[in-house]
Amino acid sequence: MNILITGATSGIGKQLACDYAKAGHHIVACGRNEQALAELEQRFPDTIAGQQLDISDKDTTIQNLRGYTDIDLVILVAGVCEYLDIDNFDADLFARVFNINVVGTMRCVEALLPNLKAGSKLVIVGSTARLLPFTRAEAYGGSKAAIHYITRSLQVDLEERGIKVLSVSPGFVETPMTEQNDFEMPMQVSVEYASDFIRRGIDKNRLDITFPRTFGWFLKFASLLPQRWQLALSRRFKQAT
Ligand SMILES: NC(=O)c1ccc[n+]([C@@H]2O[C@H](COP(=O)([O-])OP(=O)(O)OC[C@H]3O[C@@H](n4cnc5c(N)ncnc54)[C@H](OP(=O)(O)O)[C@@H]3O)[C@@H](O)[C@H]2O)c1
Repeated sequence: MNILITGATSGIGKQLACDYAKAGHHIVACGRNEQALAELEQRFPDTIAGQQLDISDKDTTIQNLRGYTDIDLVILVAGVCEYLDIDNFDADLFARVFNINVVGTMRCVEALLPNLKAGSKLVIVGSTARLLPFTRAEAYGGSKAAIHYITRSLQVDLEERGIKVLSVSPGFVETPMTEQNDFEMPMQVSVEYASDFIRRGIDKNRLDITFPRTFGWFLKFASLLPQRWQLALSRRFKQAT
């Protein structure tokens, strides 16, 4: 398969790129970090090609991705997380997070969609943070709720073109992104576990790839509770952080 992965320079995206490369697939690994891209190319000279990409830049994103005309699987992993300080409310923080997690991700879709053929797959990485209102996660959780909704709408609109659209919602995964967290992360999994779960979900065309399972089920159940109960749960999480 020809696979294009954004966010391939670190964490979940990097592990996916390495695991797919080990299995003999051809990978276009995207990200801004030139050194990380060069290291991936050196490690997998026959299967990984690096593509410098800053998804916050409209013109270069379209320019750099439009040329890929033979991709079977697109996995849009690139994302950022910033937490809100409620005492210094900053709307620019929302702009930064949404510009990467939502607009940047959709720029990649805009660039790649004209060349995606029937039978190809488009996988978009969100987060389980979309399922409950977590403290300080107004921007991050909001962007992931938005991306999950968009992914589901794309499932409807790309069905007729034969393009499978899959939504990925990870719980806590050990990566440079979560290294900055100063709170307890229940049921955190390794990046290898995450890659394995996502790749199996993609193989099986699971529309909703949420993991780890128990954590996902708990949050999905919680999201069905009356709002007052959800707030009580969120309050508990807040006290624990
Ligand atoms: N780790 C978790 O617990 C967790 C949980 C739920 C969801 N997720 C989601 O999973 C995805 C990957 O997270 P991770 O934990 O693997 O994070 P990470 O290690 O920090 O990796 C983030 C990736 O996004 C890329 N990226 C960021 N800004 C970019 C930009 N402007 N243009 C292009 N690429 C950009 C980075 O590449 P460059 O710096 O090279 O550009 C990097 O490869 C994110 O969407 C995150 O929200 C993670």
